[in-house]
Amino acid sequence: MSIEKVGVVGCGLMGAGIAQVAAHSGCDVIVREVSPEFVEKGLKSIEKNLARLVEKGTLTAADRDQVRGRLRGTTKLEDLADRDLIVEAIIEQLPIKRELYGALDKICGPATLFASNTSSLSITEMATATRRPDRFFGLHFFNPVPVMKLVEVIRTIASDAKAYEDLVAFAKKLGKTPVLTSDRTGFIVNRLLVPYLLDAIRALEEGVGNIVDIDNSMKLGCGHPMGPLTLLDFVGLDTTYYISQIMFDEFHERRFASPPLLKRMVLAGWNGRKAGRGFYDYTDPQNPKPMKLT
Ligand code: CAA
Repeated sequence: MSIEKVGVVGCGLMGAGIAQVAAHSGCDVIVREVSPEFVEKGLKSIEKNLARLVEKGTLTAADRDQVRGRLRGTTKLEDLADRDLIVEAIIEQLPIKRELYGALDKICGPATLFASNTSSLSITEMATATRRPDRFFGLHFFNPVPVMKLVEVIRTIASDAKAYEDLVAFAKKLGKTPVLTSDRTGFIVNRLLVPYLLDAIRALEEGVGNIVDIDNSMKLGCGHPMGPLTLLDFVGLDTTYYISQIMFDEFHERRFASPPLLKRMVLAGWNGRKAGRGFYDYTDPQNPKPMKLT
């Protein structure tokens, strides 16, 4: 089955990015948000991104109009009834996701594939809220979605092999490189990334280096685009804390345990770039200044 009609539930940072790349690849896309204001905000952010591509000359104005023409917004789940694939990118709370999937399961036809963009929740646990665990997968994109080339395609023990192949083909159609992985908390990327990020915080706590030196070490010594503390601010400290807790619950290994400083920063609301401060102060976003934390 070729996936042509896509529904994206949740049009925040990740959902908007997923909707954009799906429409860009030629799919007919409907994005669903809970209120007309959120629908408009999501579509506006996509329009802004497309406008930037036109300014840079990587997209013609005519192509932008075609991409935009393939995108529609709605607040009604019922509008997703005829989709080949639903990609969900809503809040990372299992009961809310399960409720959504239970409702979608009744609305969509039996052939529709469901895929969650979760970074850490169990795909199997979401799939059991539906009568289609064989057609239920994870499709984990990376921020910023239009730029990052990777998509983790996650199967469960209940997955249908042919439907999984269709989803892998869809990821390729989006211009992404799919990696095939199974339903283990954190999948491949966060299993490797989260302990690394938490270790960078532990190194800071232990006085191994200061914020700028830790970041420069990995940027200049290992060629990473961002140092780990900058990346933590970019991903969100609250998000990383949440993922680490789920991973710790699953594996009970110290490498996934949150360092006390991370917890304190989240409690203080210093969640990174989106909060205006984290390991850096973003009062001047072009020139972030390291915070005094230790
Ligand atoms: N949306 C669309 N395009 C964007 C963008 C955004 N939010 N941010 C940057 N870009 C584009 C720029 O327009 C630019 O495009 P061109 O090369 O065509 O001009 C390109 O990306 C590079 O941007 P910049 O020159 O402004 O800055 P940069 O070179 O520092 O790159 C970056 C920015 C791509 C974010 C880079 O720093 C990077 O790759 N950082 C690491 C990001 C990362 O690790 N993401 C994964 C996080 S983990 C996750 O998402 C999953 C999870 O479960 C937690």
